[in-house]
Amino acid sequence: MRILVLNGPNLNMLGTREPHVYGATTLADIEQAMSDRAAARGVDIDFVQSNHEGVIIDTIQQHQHTTGGIIINPGAFTHYSYAIRDALSAVSVPIIEVHISNVYKREPFRHHSVIAPIATGQIAGLGWRGYLHALDWVLDSTANA
Ligand code: DQA
Repeated sequence: MRILVLNGPNLNMLGTREPHVYGATTLADIEQAMSDRAAARGVDIDFVQSNHEGVIIDTIQQHQHTTGGIIINPGAFTHYSYAIRDALSAVSVPIIEVHISNVYKREPFRHHSVIAPIATGQIAGLGWRGYLHALDWVLDSTANA
């Protein structure tokens, strides 16, 4: 089984970007932790980060028939990208929306997600560990389906 982990704009800057909001953990650290967990559970992960909406959409389309689940932090696209939402809507595997910060405690524009209504579930505010919880959930739910 393969899982797609997609990170949107500015998440390549984790570690130095607003560490009081997003913590000191880098995206490479997160990907390493997820790789370790995936290896322990016998699955493979494809990691993609892009600052470009079209690349994120292309990636979703390219993986839609081969992935067993999508874990996505769309960054600011969360709040307004109907194009990413539509790309995800066409996929029939579990989709977990992850946010490092608790977007509901922040500025009002972050309170609305255009992705959430078509996602299987959402994790927000658990820091970088939210990605690991998302991975465990996808694998547990698939195993018990
Ligand atoms: C974020 C929250 C978004 O509002 C923001 O634009 C991000 C990161 C998070 O992980 O908390 O880039 O998705």
